[in-house]
Amino acid sequence: MKKIVKLFCAVLLSAALTACGSGEPTSAPSVADSDKAAVQEKLNKQGGKTDETKADENTVTTQADAETPTDSDGTNILVAYFSRADENYNVGTIDKGNTQIVAEYIADEVGADSFHIETVTPYPADYDECCDVAKQELADKARPELNGTVDNMEQYDIVFLCYPIWWGDMPMAVYTFMDSYDFSDKVVIPFNTHEGSGESGTCSAIGSYLPDAQVLDGMAIQGKTAQEFSSDTQQSVRDWLDGLGF
Ligand SMILES: Cc1cc2nc3c(=O)[nH]c(=O)nc-3n(C[C@H](O)[C@H](O)[C@H](O)COP(=O)(O)O)c2cc1C
Repeated sequence: MKKIVKLFCAVLLSAALTACGSGEPTSAPSVADSDKAAVQEKLNKQGGKTDETKADENTVTTQADAETPTDSDGTNILVAYFSRADENYNVGTIDKGNTQIVAEYIADEVGADSFHIETVTPYPADYDECCDVAKQELADKARPELNGTVDNMEQYDIVFLCYPIWWGDMPMAVYTFMDSYDFSDKVVIPFNTHEGSGESGTCSAIGSYLPDAQVLDGMAIQGKTAQEFSSDTQQSVRDWLDGLGF
């Protein structure tokens, strides 16, 4: 318990100083005209694809289903998410991670393929132990090996990148994911869950890490709110997607 208190004293202070994507958990963030225009350009590009092109496009794989790729309908939108179930702060022991719940909703709403960013070595189910591992990985700037690959990353013009805040940053596995593909000319839309830190500067961190991508402002939701995923929260995510032009 002492460790939990220590962690969140630090991150809540940091949230007060840095949060730009947080705020009322059930309110959709406003969307800049330039962000909406960036999405529209990519959606129009998809609209212009031929059926032959679409037929050639396929496959989002994970280790588990590497031989049976997801049957894509040729969408140019990918929802890539890191999310951890098991014991977590404020939600107890959960079957499905907070971020995953919203990531799945986004994928359904926009008709995207999805990819679960999973590490070869799973994180401990125990919250405190997971905090220790994550803290060490952050200190080491670790790049944990991932399960599976997105075989056809070039198919996607828009990538929703969804993750929880870990120690005021993204899990290091999300950096491994970003290292693994060419994001040139892609529109990247961050989404994150957290327990007080908001987006914690991660939108600009992604922008710096992927200088050849167009990284938009994202949306941040408290993890517990995402886990409960009330109709109000769904509506706020839907409003955000509407604002982006989906
Ligand atoms: C290792 C670890 C570190 C965390 N660090 C922070 C943090 O710095 N700031 C914060 O607001 N929440 C922090 N949290 C809480 C998570 O961001 C929050 O529970 C999130 O919704 C988890 O998403 P998930 O269930 O999809 O993995 C941390 C959680 C874990 C497990």
